[in-house]
Amino acid sequence: MKKKTTTYFGNKIIPAYEKKQRVQDIFTSVADKYDLMNDLMSFGTHRLWKRFVAEKTNLKPGDSAIDVCGGTADIAMLMAKRVGEKGKIVVYDINRGMLEFGRDKCIDKGFLKNIQYTQGDAEEIAFEDNTFHCATVGFGIRNVTYLEKAFKDLFFQSHAGDWRACNRQPGRIHLSSGVHQKISNPGGVKKDYGRGRPF
Ligand SMILES: C[S@@+](CC[C@H](N)C(=O)[O-])C[C@H]1O[C@@H](n2cnc3c(N)ncnc32)[C@H](O)[C@@H]1O
Repeated sequence: MKKKTTTYFGNKIIPAYEKKQRVQDIFTSVADKYDLMNDLMSFGTHRLWKRFVAEKTNLKPGDSAIDVCGGTADIAMLMAKRVGEKGKIVVYDINRGMLEFGRDKCIDKGFLKNIQYTQGDAEEIAFEDNTFHCATVGFGIRNVTYLEKAFKDLFFQSHAGDWRACNRQPGRIHLSSGVHQKISNPGGVKKDYGRGRPF
């Protein structure tokens, strides 16, 4: 894959190597206010999109899915309802603040058993092949520098805006090797999905 030297950060062009840190800084600073900001800025329409995507996944009880760039866990919770207690959803996000925020929300809403939280880079996803039935990304694509790298093994059906949902049934998605960490999930899914270091 060809390395970029520059990339977009909002409307600005910046050195590609700077983007990840800049994105991290933003989400670290807004993590605890993200939901409110999102509701205000989108007039709540993000919730409709999330429901739309969860529906499009066509997940069934017992299935598993990963929500990449999924910090708020909104899509994860919708998918968790579909897969039920026997299913598994992984919220996968690079930013610990966003993940903790999402995890707290899940716990408050009673999602204790079938959601797991993994800190990692979308460009370095590290799960075994055939782990998930489905992968989703909500409002996350714009944050990633090397999309080809991030999504090379995922199969996407494109939907409106910044949404992708995939559901390659009966074949399952394949995820490539990389590095990630799990964050603790009291009472949550026990299986370690990847090769990350729990904390
Ligand atoms: C705009 S928020 C969307 C959160 C959630 N999907 C939603 O729609 O409510 C984008 C998320 O992408 C995460 N993110 C940014 N760059 C990432 C990367 N390279 N790998 C994984 N997650 C990333 C951010 O930490 C943030 O939580």
